[in-house]
This record gives sequence, structure tokens and C-alpha cells, in this order.
Amino acid sequence: MAPRARRRGPLPALLALCALFTALQVTFQVTPPCTSDRHYQHLGRCCNRCEPGKYMSSKCTTTSDSVCLPCGPDEYLDTWNEEDKCLLHKVCDTGKALVAVDPGNRTAPRRCACTAGYHWSQDCECCRRNAECAPGFGAQHPCTVAERAHRGHYSTATPGKGSPRQL
Ligand SMILES: *[C@@H]1O[C@H](CO)[C@@H](O)[C@H](O)[C@H]1NC(C)=O
Repeated sequence: MAPRARRRGPLPALLALCALFTALQVTFQVTPPCTSDRHYQHLGRCCNRCEPGKYMSSKCTTTSDSVCLPCGPDEYLDTWNEEDKCLLHKVCDTGKALVAVDPGNRTAPRRCACTAGYHWSQDCECCRRNAECAPGFGAQHPCTVAERAHRGHYSTATPGKGSPRQL
């Protein structure tokens, strides 16, 4: 007779092994994956990160989840985070020809742009008067290239006319 037909052959052992692997697989699947950007691993646990607009005042413990508190009035955090404090909004300094095009809030940063008649220059990381760029041509080609290369900064195409517009 074939060996497989005998009792205590390799088949029961294989079945037992199969059952063991199945059980292990179930265990792995039940363990929560801590790969989401809304979670972090701490003390062998998978805990909640803080939502945008809040910072983490305490990490989770073995018995409690993370403690999240809202950012202050001039602060923000735009990601799910484990930060122990919020980021301060940047200043759009009018003395440097900057103006806020988006004031920002607890979940989004403030965005500055050059005022009318100025364009963003990557060389100085500052706003330059359009006339300095192309005398007699205003905000023509060379300035436009410099503006587009720097996201979040722009100048109006026609100096002194109209209100600032995002590129
Ligand atoms: C915060 O500002 C962003 C960007 O302007 C906007 O999308 C969002 O709706 C604002 N959130 C609140 C709560 O006002």
C-alpha cells in the first residue's frame, strides 16, 4: 500500500502545520498595522497622532492615548503630527514689500507675496522693484521667470495696477 494511507503518515503532520500557519496568519492580521500617517508607535502600542491644528502635549502611555491641544492664535500645524509645539506663522513684512495673500489659520500656514510693483527674486530671497529687473520694460520676461521659479511668490504683471494675484 502507499505510505500515505498508513496512520501517522506525513499527512496529519502537514495538516497540523497548515492549521498552525493559519492561526499565526490570523494573529498577524488582528495585530493593528501602525503604518498610517495618523498613527505612531510608542511603548509597543499604536497610538493616534494629533490632527492638523493641534500639537501633542503628551504621548500615549500603556493605559491612555495621546493628548492633543489646539495651536495658539498665531500658530499652525498642517499635518497629522507628534510635535510638542505648533509652528509660528511667518511675518509678511510690509517694510520688505511683502503682503499676506492668505492670513493662514490653525491648519494652514500664512502665505506672503510681493506687493504690486515688486517681484520675488531668488538671488536675494526678497522682493525687488520691477524697474530694477528690466528698465523700460517693467515686469517683462526676466522677472516673470524669477517669479515662477519661486512658488508662493508673485508680482502683478502690470506694476501699480490692480490687486496682487497668485500665479
Ligand atoms: C484654513 O486655511 C486653509 C487655506 O486657506 C483653508 O483651506 C481652510 O479651510 C482653513 N480652515 C479653517 C478652519 O478655516
